Amino acid sequence: MAKMEDIVSLCKRRGFIWQGSDVYGGMAGTWDFGPLGVALKRRIMNTWWSYWVESRDDMYGVDAAIIMNPKTWEASGHTATFADPLVECNECHGRFRADKLVEGANESISTEEFKAKNAKCPTCGKVNWSDIRKFNMMFQTHVGPVDDDSSIAYLRPETAQGIFTNYKNVVDTIYPDLPFGLAQQGKAFRNEISPRDFVLRDRECEQMEIEYFINPSTWEENFKQLHDAYHKFLTEEMGLDANMIHDFEVAPEDRAHYSKHTIDIMFDYPNGQEELMGLAYRTDFDLMNIQKASNKSMEYIPKGGGERFVPHVIEPSIGVERLLLAVLSCAYKVEEKDGKKRTILALPENLAPYRFCVSPLLKNKPELVNKAREAYDLLRKKYGNVTWDDSGNIGKRYLKQDEIGTPKCVVVDFDSLEDDSVTIRDRDTTEQVRVKIAEL
Ligand code: GAP
Repeated sequence: MAKMEDIVSLCKRRGFIWQGSDVYGGMAGTWDFGPLGVALKRRIMNTWWSYWVESRDDMYGVDAAIIMNPKTWEASGHTATFADPLVECNECHGRFRADKLVEGANESISTEEFKAKNAKCPTCGKVNWSDIRKFNMMFQTHVGPVDDDSSIAYLRPETAQGIFTNYKNVVDTIYPDLPFGLAQQGKAFRNEISPRDFVLRDRECEQMEIEYFINPSTWEENFKQLHDAYHKFLTEEMGLDANMIHDFEVAPEDRAHYSKHTIDIMFDYPNGQEELMGLAYRTDFDLMNIQKASNKSMEYIPKGGGERFVPHVIEPSIGVERLLLAVLSCAYKVEEKDGKKRTILALPENLAPYRFCVSPLLKNKPELVNKAREAYDLLRKKYGNVTWDDSGNIGKRYLKQDEIGTPKCVVVDFDSLEDDSVTIRDRDTTEQVRVKIAEL
């Protein structure tokens, strides 16, 4: 199993992920993606979009604004309840999430329960705590030039509400058959008390959410279909090891305020098991709240006749960064052969930042460089994500490409000038085969 520090180090060294605002000493809970990181992240997001939206007849996309009318968050319950239990150490004034300091605790832990556990402050080691207070995690801002209560707005803490608030627009314009899903990808912001574990708990993250609108009479069947499809997506499209994925049925007292049934899909991350994503039966909670707050009907008129009703919703919700870290955790490998170590990022071909790396055997031989450019242009045209590397010797190039996850290295040598063939070297097996340039 990969260690977190090895993944973090590779991400930094090779330009996948850096601490946000690194040059100024960083900004806790934020991360910047470098050239390889953004390539991997986009491939994950594009694969998700193509799998869940473009290749299904029952899914549609939306892309809502990040700053929404604050009524959204009143109606959804976030203004009142989207809060974590905050405690402050009276000695060093460090602030922490109380439920993360006590094993087995959840977000509803009380001051009495917390204090009875005598948890030590992770910073100074003392046991002298304030009472717990609820800390709302929404980032507040002001819209427009006036800085008073009437201009308060929030950065969205979930993309889901941008879907719910557009449900009526979609039904009124394209009137899809029920059941149907609306999908959205985009930034979400949470003022986490203790961001931690690399990109696992961030203050700014990206979500990929689906709200699947259904007739309540079929909720169990719809839930199961989405659940099964997600397991297939995670293993077959994202290359996650099925043995590292675990379903966890959330107890009623631990479920989010809107959910009647929740399965958290957990993943064995390098630092332990954590939630990768959630699947929740949100009932008609959100549409009913919007109907009440907006005075607009959220009812769906069944196409084949029958009574109109407010649809219920199944929500699969996943964070891009958590998925990306799971992908990296499965892909990271160190192999030892003949006393030599090789780090491999065995990413699935569809996710690798580069599909091919093309090199001339020697960079000071123009005839090799020209031939290699030919192969490079051909592959570029066909696949897009192809890189060129003529630095160092060929062995070093292979090691670098293995570490950034490039599945195939294409090398043009002197034989290529005679037979129009190239050597293709495989990242995972290191096997080499000769292939005609025209057949690449
Ligand atoms: N709309 C439902 C919702 O937002 P959630 O369980 O709070 O539910 C869904 O979040 C997913 O978003 C999580 O399973 C996780 O993958 C991701 N996520 C949530 N908070 C995150 C954070 N602070 N940093 C990174 N990812 C996060």
